[in-house]
Order: sequence, then structure tokens, then C-alpha cells
Amino acid sequence: MEHQITYTAINRQVAFKNTGQTLLDISIGNGIPHLHECGGNGVCTTCRVRVLDGIQNLSPKTAFEQSSCHARKWDPSIRLACQARPKGDVTIQRLIWSSGEVNNLQKELAPEGRAEERPIAIIFCDIRNFTNLSSHNLNFDIAYMLNKFYTALGEPILMNNGVIYQYVGDEIIGVFGTSGGTARKNCEDAIRAALGMQYALDTLNRTDLKDIQVKLKSGIGINFGTAFIGHLGHPTHKQFSVIGDPVNVASRIQDETKATQTNILVSETILENVDRETILTGRSFHSKLAGKDNPVHLHELLGFKNMDLQLELQASMNTMLEDEDQFAAIFYEKVFAEAPFVRALFRKNMTDQGRLLTHMLGGIVYSLSRPEHLKRGLARLGQNHVQYGVKAAYYPIIKKAMLETIDEVLGENKTPQTLQAWHTALDFVIDAMKSQAHPPAHPMQKEPVN
Ligand code: HEM
Ligand code: FES
Repeated sequence: MEHQITYTAINRQVAFKNTGQTLLDISIGNGIPHLHECGGNGVCTTCRVRVLDGIQNLSPKTAFEQSSCHARKWDPSIRLACQARPKGDVTIQRLIWSSGEVNNLQKELAPEGRAEERPIAIIFCDIRNFTNLSSHNLNFDIAYMLNKFYTALGEPILMNNGVIYQYVGDEIIGVFGTSGGTARKNCEDAIRAALGMQYALDTLNRTDLKDIQVKLKSGIGINFGTAFIGHLGHPTHKQFSVIGDPVNVASRIQDETKATQTNILVSETILENVDRETILTGRSFHSKLAGKDNPVHLHELLGFKNMDLQLELQASMNTMLEDEDQFAAIFYEKVFAEAPFVRALFRKNMTDQGRLLTHMLGGIVYSLSRPEHLKRGLARLGQNHVQYGVKAAYYPIIKKAMLETIDEVLGENKTPQTLQAWHTALDFVIDAMKSQAHPPAHPMQKEPVN
């Protein structure tokens, strides 16, 4: 007997037979993009749905699901699609639509009505001469510019496991490590985000803002230290809050970029927590910050000394997937031209399949900063591929077609490092997919040709 899953927001109904599949399996099987960063292991919560009807037709919560729901104080209508198995009609709404939304979920785990100490890195980024810009432009144009600025510069924060904490006038504030992470990881994430923000601003100036003849410049200050994190405020209006001296100091460091005529300044504490040898710094300053008795040591951040894989992937991703359908169409055309025999493995409509692929590629770039989720997700993807009839020897075909597509779609917007980064990333993805699905052969046996 067949039952129906109804997806409210996209007004779509799909039929399923009661074979013990999860809601997530049903979404993927029907070509409906459904985030599942940890690959259905019940730990990332990105697959969460609100059940609008038919909750009695879902299997009881698994232990994984119970602990996720309990930690976040969810009401009973929220379920994890990777854990819930329907046995009758159900109406659901997916709650997380994009990888960019995933980081904000970290705020859910901050305490209510009190604050806890956490080691965090903080970025303050502001637009230079914004007051001047405001007085020479219409309010409508200012709102347009600010929106573009917040979107473009918010993305590198989110891609690097950070949380967009606040927009204050022309300033955007990012916090790294709100839900844990080592000091080193939080500082590295912040450094990578700051460099990504600078790249994003250059791109914005060359594209959207060029038409309105505006060129924005920014100043970025980064600091690390122990701050208090929690939801504070009036009981009816609590806000996610990050408080403490390191936050104030980050703001002052940002101010100092004006006096020192620098784009990005980092504190000594940031550099103490990362592998200094990998970071390219310029001038150093002994600055007396407002409200501080002793001068602090600040460094101009210029970049990474060697190519940084994540930064390269992040910088190219938006351009590469600007037209997702076109990317997927070019890619599959190349795959089928190279290996016509794999065409028969694809049962879905190729537009739906293309969207699942590009959705996954975007998700991979975001979740490189959460490798523990990513590896599990890719292992599961690899297991699915065995079910689809994919053999280990087919992976090089996909890799070649993907690199050629990236090359073609990026056109002039790439450097040799961009392609090198995607080459390395695809090796990582493929290895992780093959790790569970195609266990290595006996040491004496030869691996399949690839
Ligand atoms: C970089 C490696 C790859 C990635 C990231 C990838 C990604 C995906 C994604 C996201 C899906 C959607 C279904 C799901 O999530 O389980 C999918 C389905 C599929 N992929 Fe891949 N894939 C890769 C390699 C391959 C290879 C080497 C082949 C073989 C030629 C292949 C053939 C298929 C087929 C046949 C389906 C199912 C289509 C259907 O059900 O109609 N994929 N892939
Ligand atoms: S919790 Fe469901 S996919 Fe991660």
C-alpha cells in the first residue's frame, strides 16, 4: 500500500511504500534537496523538519534524536528526517534550506538567561568613510549597498564555522567558537574568514557596486580571548549575546586599521594560537588602544604563505555555482560523452539530479570547516553510490569531468591554484566516499584501475 509525504513549502507530494525508509531517504530518492551534513547519523540536526500533520505515523525518536531535541528544547513537532521513519501519510516542512543557515544553529546551544565562558575569536569589519557615503547617496541606495555588503561579507564568516553576531550600522561582527572548538581552530577560522571577506569585497566592487559607481573599502580587526556567551535580556526578548573584554578589544583593533592605514589587523593572541609559520604578516604596531592602559602588539594580516585549500574553494564557489543548473548540465554532458555506459545508472530527472549534486558540492565547501560531520556525510554518500551501481573505477571519470566543468564555468575568474584546490578537494571527497563503500582490497590484491 502506498502513502504520501507532503512537502508544504514546495507544494509537492511524493508516494512511498512502507519499506522502513527514513524521511531523508524519501527526499533524496525523489530528488528533493534536503540538507544532511552528517550523512544521516543524527548528530548535525541539519535535516530537521516540522511535522504539520501525521506525526503519529512516524517511528518513535531514536536515542540520537532524543538527545538533540532535549539539548535544543524543541517542541514535539520537530523531528530529524534522518531518524524518523514514516508508516503513513505525513506533511512536513524542511526547516534548514541552505548551508549558510547551518552555523546560526550554534546559537541554539548557548545557555538561556545566563552566560558561559568560551574561548572565541572575534572579527569586527566596517566600511571606511561610510558617513561620507551616506550623505552623498539616497537612503534607498544606501540600503542596497549595505545589504550587498552584509551578504557578501557575511558569507565567509558562515563558510568558516562562524556566527554572524550583529550588524551595527556599517559594521558586521563575526564570532568563531561559540559552540566549542580548539583555540587554534577558532583563530584559523577567523583568519580565513577575514581574508575571504577581503576577497568578497573586491568581487563586490568589481560587480554589483560598479554599476552604481561605488567602491567600498573595509577595515577588519581580529582578536581572541575568553568571552561570555548566552541568551540575555528581558524574558520576552532574549538575545544571543557575546560579552567580555576580548570583544571590546576586537572593536578597538578595527578602529586602529584607520590610523595604521591597514586592511586587516590581528592581535598577538591570534598569532600565538596558530602556526605562525603559515601566516603572511606585514607591518607590526605597538598600539595604545582606547580604554587600555598598556599598548598591545598588532600585526597586519596579508594572507597565507602557501595556497590555502579552503580559502581557494570558498573564493571560487559562488561564481562557480552562480547558475547551478547550467553547471550541472555542462558536467553531465561531459560525463555522458566520456562514458555513455553510466547514463543507464541515472533514473531521476537530470535537472533534479543536477540540483542534488550542486547542493552537495556547495555543502561540502561549507562543511570543510566541520570535518567531523563532513566525513560521515561523504561515507554515507559513498554507500548510496554502491546501491546506485557505481563502481570504484568510475570515480576518475567524474573527477575529470568535474575539473573540466569548473575550468570552463570559472573562465577568467580562476587561477592555477583554484584548479589545484578543486583537484585536491575532489580527491578528498572521493576517498571519503570510497572509504566505507569500497573497503580496500586485500593488500596482495590490486586496486581497481583508477
Ligand atoms: C565527487 C564524487 C560524487 C559526488 C559528490 C556525487 C554526488 C551525488 C549526489 C549528491 C547524488 C544524489 C543522491 C544522494 O545524495 O545519494 C548522486 C546520485 C548519483 N550519482 Fe553521484 N556523486 C559522485 C560520484 C559519482 C560517480 C563516480 C558516479 C558514477 C558514474 C555517480 C553516479 C550517480 C548516480 C547513478 C546517482 C543516482 C541517480 C538516480 O538515482 O537517478 N556519482 N551523486
Ligand atoms: S542529523 Fe540528520 S543528517 Fe545529520
